[in-house]
Amino acid sequence: MSRAAPASSSGTYRALKEKDTEVERVEVELLLEAIFRVYGFDFRSYAYASIKRRLWRRAQAEGVASFSALQERVLHDPTCMDRLMLDLSIQVTSMFRDPSFFLALRRKVVPSLRTYPFIRVWHAGCSSGEEVFSLAMLLKEEGLYARTRIYATDLNETVIKVAKNGIFPLSKMQEYTINYQRAGGLRSFSEYYTARYDGARFDPSLMENVLFSQHNLVTDGSFSEFHLILCRNVMIYFDRNLQNRVLDLFHSSLANFGFLALGRKENLRQTESEPKFIPFVAEEKIFRRADKK
Ligand SMILES: C[S@@+](CC[C@H](N)C(=O)[O-])C[C@H]1O[C@@H](n2cnc3c(N)ncnc32)[C@H](O)[C@@H]1O
Repeated sequence: MSRAAPASSSGTYRALKEKDTEVERVEVELLLEAIFRVYGFDFRSYAYASIKRRLWRRAQAEGVASFSALQERVLHDPTCMDRLMLDLSIQVTSMFRDPSFFLALRRKVVPSLRTYPFIRVWHAGCSSGEEVFSLAMLLKEEGLYARTRIYATDLNETVIKVAKNGIFPLSKMQEYTINYQRAGGLRSFSEYYTARYDGARFDPSLMENVLFSQHNLVTDGSFSEFHLILCRNVMIYFDRNLQNRVLDLFHSSLANFGFLALGRKENLRQTESEPKFIPFVAEEKIFRRADKK
């Protein structure tokens, strides 16, 4: 008897815990469904563990004790949705992020881009634009910028506005200068910005050929044919199905032999899309479109 009791109570405990977990999942799904139906933002196919963590953080910050309570608040208070939006669309970025990636772009991808009379680039999930400005500098130094058009898009309108301003914190310039040098920068980094108060205002000519706009990879389609697509550190937050859908979108948006660049922790391995791309600089997650259209 003394042995049977703990076994059955631990069984009951496990069953209760599984039920809690199931209830929690239902609450999260209902909350995401409500956000989609009311606000049109579709987070339903984002990776569950990560989205749950962020929703929970927002629930705590709002002082509510469950996902259902958070749902009530989000539905009736659009400012709560604004705050949640910032939690859900993670904005970590920097200039010349992963300098060896930008060096590979310069040394290995640029020679192919050079062969095109006009170059179209899609920078998807560009956040506040640090990567876009980095790419513009690189292409300027390689003499390609004048014949390039960069379409820089993000789900989050607030960060697009920041990107359009082209002003970044002065406190970051030391880190960015080092990144720039490691990425094979040919000039002095400080030539690209003017310091004003605590901000660094980047040369507006870097934005001349950039078109910033809102675009949602989950719900919006393609809008041109590109020679290079960068989508770094975005799909990491998507579940496998959504990753496959977005990779399909990129595949159909690339010109023959066009390049796709992903983030350091992202991969095509074991995705349905793996055969559609050929590794080009594998260690930097740069791929090429595999087949002809
Ligand atoms: C971590 S940041 C990466 C920024 C930049 N690419 C980099 O690697 O430094 C992820 C960005 O993806 C955007 N994002 C998330 N879901 C998206 C979606 N469905 N469509 C477009 N952008 C999305 C977020 O708003 C955020 O700006």
